Amino acid sequence: MRKLLWLSTLVLVLGSLSMAQQYRTFPEIKQSGKILIGTEGQFPPFNYFNDKNQLEGFDIDIGNAIAEQLGLTPEWKAHAWDTMLIALNQGRFDFVIASHTITEERAKAVDFTNPYYCTGNVIVSRPGGPQTPEELKGKVIGAQLGTTFEEFAKQFEPKQLKTYQTNPDAVQDLMMGRIDAWITDQFTALEAIKSRGLNLQVSEPLNKEEIGMAVAKGNSLLLAALNQALAEIQANGVYEQISMKWFGKDIRCK
Ligand code: ARG
Repeated sequence: MRKLLWLSTLVLVLGSLSMAQQYRTFPEIKQSGKILIGTEGQFPPFNYFNDKNQLEGFDIDIGNAIAEQLGLTPEWKAHAWDTMLIALNQGRFDFVIASHTITEERAKAVDFTNPYYCTGNVIVSRPGGPQTPEELKGKVIGAQLGTTFEEFAKQFEPKQLKTYQTNPDAVQDLMMGRIDAWITDQFTALEAIKSRGLNLQVSEPLNKEEIGMAVAKGNSLLLAALNQALAEIQANGVYEQISMKWFGKDIRCK
């Protein structure tokens, strides 16, 4: 496992080195008038495609509000989760807002903004299924590949840890009985249950994660601009309004 972790770090670090300075600085972005924003599009209610095949969600609203605050026109690009930070360092977008937990590991490859929300992981299972860490022992657990959910699930000594390209894939397998429990974000779990009317139980959040936007490693002027715009929308009521719309409460870190 150690080796694998090492390898993925190496790939991320080498990826960013060989593509050094592929990013646009904030003055360059300003001059162009538009900002390219990367997200995934498979993580409701944060970022997903609606029936009209348009991106929507909390991340999208926050990204748009930040672009507006900076006086820029947002241009969205959807990208697969597992290679999104590599694509960021290659200059495919100016910043990423896709509900990335700020981790030491990732911070070696990219630079994170201040957290734009705080959340926690939950255990989701069918009625009668595992709901506590103790009950997870020896069970088959599912989690999205390359997420903090996957890392988090390992400590429970599952019989098997099944990983999925996207979160919705894991829900599918939970409903089919192919996994005993799904580890995911608390808001994502509630949304999956509500929107599809599923009969599933959700544990209390088991940890705390700080979620940030990311810029290419070293893109410090853009990082500062994003942090300032975030502070401004958190101060002027725009953030609160967006958070209320999606969650009925303010999910900023306290
Ligand atoms: N917060 C978790 C992580 O950073 C999961 C995020 C999943 N986001 C997504 N767009 N699928 O690993």
